[in-house]
Amino acid sequence: MSKLKVGLIAGILALTVGAGVSLAAMSADDAIKGRQACMKQGHGGVMKVAVPIMKGEAPFDAAALKAAYDGEDAACKDWDAFWAPGTEKGTVETHALPAIWTDKEGFAAAGKAWYDAATKLRAATDEASFKAAFPAVGAACKGCHEKFRAAD
Ligand code: HEC
Repeated sequence: MSKLKVGLIAGILALTVGAGVSLAAMSADDAIKGRQACMKQGHGGVMKVAVPIMKGEAPFDAAALKAAYDGEDAACKDWDAFWAPGTEKGTVETHALPAIWTDKEGFAAAGKAWYDAATKLRAATDEASFKAAFPAVGAACKGCHEKFRAAD
């Protein structure tokens, strides 16, 4: 193999490894798109199934809820990367407030409030236990949005 060819391959390898590293860190735009998809498709997907049950317009449906929870987990799995330093702004519009990065403990607490409420909701086995657990989840969404999401 010629020296040039070896050099080229080494260069391509270096490029590939470099790309892998930047992918793991996630660009600001990807983080913004990722967190918005977690919110809209992930959390929103659960709301779509949960709200009709809460209103009495649909029966408690464990299978539909399980599918929505799985979708929520998938859409939100990179949660920590979605709010990494350097993702405050990108070229994509974001409603994330600076407080997320200045009040890290408050933001983590708001995230935990959701997690705890959602864990109880996911444990619901019938309409009564579901209806009892749901308000805390709604309150956790609202609690975080009030502090950490710009209104419009
Ligand atoms: C720990 C904080 C936090 C929690 C908990 C939270 N959100 Fe959000 N949400 C945000 C932030 C911050 C944004 C703005 C993200 C952005 O624009 O970059 C947002 C944006 C959204 C959006 C708009 C997404 C878009 O397409 O721009 C929806 C819808 C949403 N949230 C729904 C929910 C629901 C439903 C829940 C509860 C099940 C929830 N969120 C829980 C922080 C939170």
